[in-house]
Amino acid sequence: MKSIQSFKKIKLKDSKLTMITCYDYSFAKIIADSNIDMVLVGDSAAMVMAGFKNTIPATIEMMEYHISSVARALKGKFLVGDMPFLEHRKNKKQTMNSIDILMKAGANAIKIEGGQNHTKIIKYIVDSGVPIMGHLGLTPQSVNALGGWKLQGNSKIEAEKIYEDALQLERSGVFAIVLEMIPEKLAKKITDDLQIPTIGIGAGAYTSGQVLVLQDLLGMSNKFNPSFVRKYFNGYDVIRKALNSFDDDVKKGSFPGNEEIIK
Ligand code: KIV
Repeated sequence: MKSIQSFKKIKLKDSKLTMITCYDYSFAKIIADSNIDMVLVGDSAAMVMAGFKNTIPATIEMMEYHISSVARALKGKFLVGDMPFLEHRKNKKQTMNSIDILMKAGANAIKIEGGQNHTKIIKYIVDSGVPIMGHLGLTPQSVNALGGWKLQGNSKIEAEKIYEDALQLERSGVFAIVLEMIPEKLAKKITDDLQIPTIGIGAGAYTSGQVLVLQDLLGMSNKFNPSFVRKYFNGYDVIRKALNSFDDDVKKGSFPGNEEIIK
């Protein structure tokens, strides 16, 4: 299994890292047999799997369920689990209890959104032996504070804040940082100046790696088409056609056929 040490070596060698989200056992079985470097059980599960309009409703119980479903399939791949909304802003005992639940569900590391405001608790968690991944830029749990799903770090002040957050997170011991929806130039500067790898989503080509939401990569929605996503499959059309073929076959009496009848 790749480790936080090997991710750092990949950055040093100037190779690229891949991370993909996953929330369930069936897809995790396929990812387990792929070349993808690491898997994120993101709190985007609240949107992708449960249909909420943002990630705020994700709970520890929800994340525990998704992490354990993925971990059962994923033997041998590094699994990062997301810390749900506000869970690291509660008292230390509750925060550590949440970390304990997610790690025992099968996570190898935990991702926590936000920067300098959280570095004390992040350092405490890292010192407890739990690898932490940071997440800066568009941090979806702060969508209400950020005023929507939009590019972050466009102004000089915002860019400096994200840059300082990244330096501070590295000092707190995180092993990698997700950079979401920030200008490519800023992502490059952060990546160049940090020892640890950066993993971009909508942050241009110069991060140490890229992450996508699995369902976006597979084209499972015909409505969600952000410019930073490349669809490698037309899941929406292919699956809808398969369902309609089943419907047709049943209705015209060709399914089950002779060979599909248990004799
Ligand atoms: O929850 C998630 O899927 C994420 C990725 C978009 C990085 O945080």
